[in-house]
Amino acid sequence: MLKLAARMGRAKPSAIMAVAEKAKKLKAEGRDIVSFSIGVPNFLPGEHVYAAVREALDKDSGQYGSNRGADALLDAYLKHLEEAGLTGYTRKNIATGIGAKHVLYNLAEALLDPGDIIAFSVPYWTTYVDIADIVGAQARLLPCPAEQNYKLTPAQLDAALPGTKVFLFNNPSNPTGMVYTKEEIAALADVLAKHPDVWIICDDIYNRMVFDGLGYHNFVNARPELRDRVIHVDSISKTYGMPGWRVGFIAAPEPVAQAMVTMNSNHITNIPEMVTAAAVAALTGPQDVPTQKNAEFQAKRDQVLAVMNAIPGVKCPRPQGAFYVFPDISCAFGKSHNGVAIGNDVDFCNALLQAKGVACVPGSAFGEPKGLRISYTCPTAQLADGLQRFAEFFAELA
Ligand SMILES: Cc1ncc(COP(=O)(O)O)c(C=O)c1O
Repeated sequence: MLKLAARMGRAKPSAIMAVAEKAKKLKAEGRDIVSFSIGVPNFLPGEHVYAAVREALDKDSGQYGSNRGADALLDAYLKHLEEAGLTGYTRKNIATGIGAKHVLYNLAEALLDPGDIIAFSVPYWTTYVDIADIVGAQARLLPCPAEQNYKLTPAQLDAALPGTKVFLFNNPSNPTGMVYTKEEIAALADVLAKHPDVWIICDDIYNRMVFDGLGYHNFVNARPELRDRVIHVDSISKTYGMPGWRVGFIAAPEPVAQAMVTMNSNHITNIPEMVTAAAVAALTGPQDVPTQKNAEFQAKRDQVLAVMNAIPGVKCPRPQGAFYVFPDISCAFGKSHNGVAIGNDVDFCNALLQAKGVACVPGSAFGEPKGLRISYTCPTAQLADGLQRFAEFFAELA
């Protein structure tokens, strides 16, 4: 029997996709399903994006493009960075890829040798563990339970960094929606400054999706000397409602950006011209769609939280960004629903889907089996319906 490479034994298909598939199957069987599972923004970009693509189509060069990204795209991203207060970067600091996921994968390849340690907090975005596994790195998991608002403390970070090659930070967070305040970022940045041998990847793809006037803050602004080892990761997927267009970015020290360019030259060659035009238009054109969506998501966050807070026993830190809520539902463990025993988060999500047609992702997919993730981007009426069913399910537990 011919064998696949050893790394494929470590590669796992996405747990989130598995839930989404189950929900899709039930829907196809005629069940009335409300899906809170996939982290998709559920809106389309403004008309100017489509107009830019039509124009690009008419001017198609038909040629290979730049491995780094077209100049127009690099400049558009530089402007986007400046709007977030990140100045002083040039085209040489930027590289692009097929979405943030591709960029993160390439970064893992570029920065981590087998056995190297990559540290990140739990709950984490599922792909972090999978990418670490594929490249043979060791994940150092830093537990951040609901009791500490799912946030990493400076002391925890300080203890975790010796021996760590890469610290991966995600703010705002998927799956919790938590956002670090300016003071919290400054305190973590002070710790990072004490550990000069650690690369810092900031997966900030939800940086435009912040609520309550909290603002987006980052390590480089807090401690400018960190710029030499901070890598910002960004994407048009969530902010602009363009997950299928597949454009991601890094802003990084030049050698890291150059490493991405080298990888691209061997993997993807370039981002297609039409997609480049769409991304440039999204980044530089009118920002009313993302602005309006952010306000809408904040209202939906309130809608979800109101329901979670009204369920006795459920603990739910208040998210301030992205479009996720991550309640701790462990009070349900040991109970049953219509005779179906609920021993853990997976049982809970399966029973909820079967009984009420509501699909959520079990927290164990994100390393935190006491919780589950609700992605709340579906239409408001559907959200209300799904939340009501969720509350009913809890009320029916015995
Ligand atoms: C934290 C985080 N990083 C990266 C990604 C990947 O985004 P992209 O669609 O740009 O690959 C996601 C997508 O869900 C995410 O939630």
